[in-house]
Amino acid sequence: MTIEQDIKTKNAAEFETRQDDVFGRIADRYDLLCDLFSFGIHRIWKRRVAALIAKENWAQLLDCATGTGDIILRVVNHKKLNLNQKIIASDISLQMLEIAKKRLLSTKEQIEFQILDAHSLPSIPDESVDLYSISLGLKICEREQVLKEAMRVLRPGGRFVSLEASNIPIKWLHKLYLLYMRLVMPIVGWLATGGDVSAYKYLLQGIEKFPTAEVLANELSALGFEEVYFQRLTFGIVAIHVARKPSRI
Ligand SMILES: C[S@@+](CC[C@H](N)C(=O)[O-])C[C@H]1O[C@@H](n2cnc3c(N)ncnc32)[C@H](O)[C@@H]1O
Repeated sequence: MTIEQDIKTKNAAEFETRQDDVFGRIADRYDLLCDLFSFGIHRIWKRRVAALIAKENWAQLLDCATGTGDIILRVVNHKKLNLNQKIIASDISLQMLEIAKKRLLSTKEQIEFQILDAHSLPSIPDESVDLYSISLGLKICEREQVLKEAMRVLRPGGRFVSLEASNIPIKWLHKLYLLYMRLVMPIVGWLATGGDVSAYKYLLQGIEKFPTAEVLANELSALGFEEVYFQRLTFGIVAIHVARKPSRI
């Protein structure tokens, strides 16, 4: 296997929920951990993603690995949903989804909550989704499989939006950032979770091993997505990738 293939098929964090239900254990502290690990900056990233989603023309949105519903919450706060707009909020963790349900109580008529593994979405028919989003979930999944499943469920012309860890293009700054994360994250994570090492181990590995924004864009194109572009946020610590499933001719 070439290095390129190896990167393509790997789960950056080598994470598998069935082996370690870390999100189930930390669900009630997840939002606090996001604030601590990112100094609250994740709120800006997610607001940007939500604004992108809100301005798109969709009737059916699927948010995979939705967690506590942070993205959807911001989408519905950004713009009141039309009566014809429906959202599926899905996650593999029941505990995370239960929190999302509570947070999204006011719009529950238009939101369906489904326990789903992003690698295989059997309850979602082919070409039934106008916009597929995944935020901070790709690095803990087998990317290629998840992206192929996104392609399957998207209707022709449908949009793909992801937010994920990325690379700071200035190499020395990226190295400094990783060093900082290696030093600080274990301390903050240890204190905030009462010693649950998994909570930061996967995150750290996912950040270190996730491909650059350019490589992820190439992967999307190689899988058949069109109009692929990305925006780096906070120097490139994360990137938003947007792509479109080709329309039928
Ligand atoms: C880092 S959190 C991101 C949550 C949310 N999207 C956000 O931006 O805050 C990752 C989420 O992915 C979920 N997850 C992990 N593996 C998954 C899988 N195979 N399929 C679907 N969700 C998964 C976890 O349960 C967790 O809620």
